Amino acid sequence: MVGLLRPLSAAATLLLAPATPLTGSSVSASSVGGRRWRSVRADAGGGWLSGLLGGKGGGASTAMMVTPGTVKAGDPVLHEPAQEVAPGDVLSEKVQGVIDRMVDVMRRAPGVGLAAPQIGVPLRIIVLEDTQEYISYAPKKDIEAQDRRPFDLLVIINPKIKSTSKRTALFFEGCLSVDGYRAVVERHLDVEVSGLDRNGSTMKVRASGWQARILQHECDHLEGTLYVDKMVARTFRVVENLDLPLPTGCPQLGAR
Ligand SMILES: *[C@@H]1O[C@H](CO)[C@@H](O)[C@H](O)[C@H]1NC(C)=O
Repeated sequence: MVGLLRPLSAAATLLLAPATPLTGSSVSASSVGGRRWRSVRADAGGGWLSGLLGGKGGGASTAMMVTPGTVKAGDPVLHEPAQEVAPGDVLSEKVQGVIDRMVDVMRRAPGVGLAAPQIGVPLRIIVLEDTQEYISYAPKKDIEAQDRRPFDLLVIINPKIKSTSKRTALFFEGCLSVDGYRAVVERHLDVEVSGLDRNGSTMKVRASGWQARILQHECDHLEGTLYVDKMVARTFRVVENLDLPLPTGCPQLGAR
């Protein structure tokens, strides 16, 4: 993702400035599967990689202003494993409401993925989506290096992820729960994820490249793992410095 984060284009600026703020949280001291969770902050912010659309969008002030609904690093919900959704609860209003809210928060961020703990809900649910429009804001050479292709909205409940090859790649990534920073993370290039869709049917997704990275990032959230827990620490930087050279001794970006 190096070089992916450019100064905002006009279009990206529009995307980063939703017309209407999310209204307050409807998830409050609710219980699913007998477990309770804390009320969700009405104005915490969005999916990961808002910066993915171009530059400083993931910067603290912008992200916090325009991406309501997410909790930030330090909140215990982001640092502990999330709970399985009981299959019998998938069609419940609560779980369906959480999914709707996740999709809404992700799109408003805008981001390409979101995990339920990021909206303060400790359940094993992820959503992800990448569009031709989002991708059009990235430099062509980055799109190719990252093997980034659009895919339709995916909602996966209780995802189980496994890598399906030994191939890995290093690129910068960010997270709206860690506003304003980026670091290089090594990720598998090929994964398979199985779980339940929002209708409770079993599903399986095979993904590679950037989509595989998003899946790994989101599934990590369900283990209480943030990218900062596995980043190449010496590459950590404020988003404004994203394009500055890597320190001596850091691994090269790209596939290995
Ligand atoms: C869930 O079921 C509805 C109604 O049958 C259908 O329209 C929708 O495509 C299904 N969603 C998924 C993800 O399969």
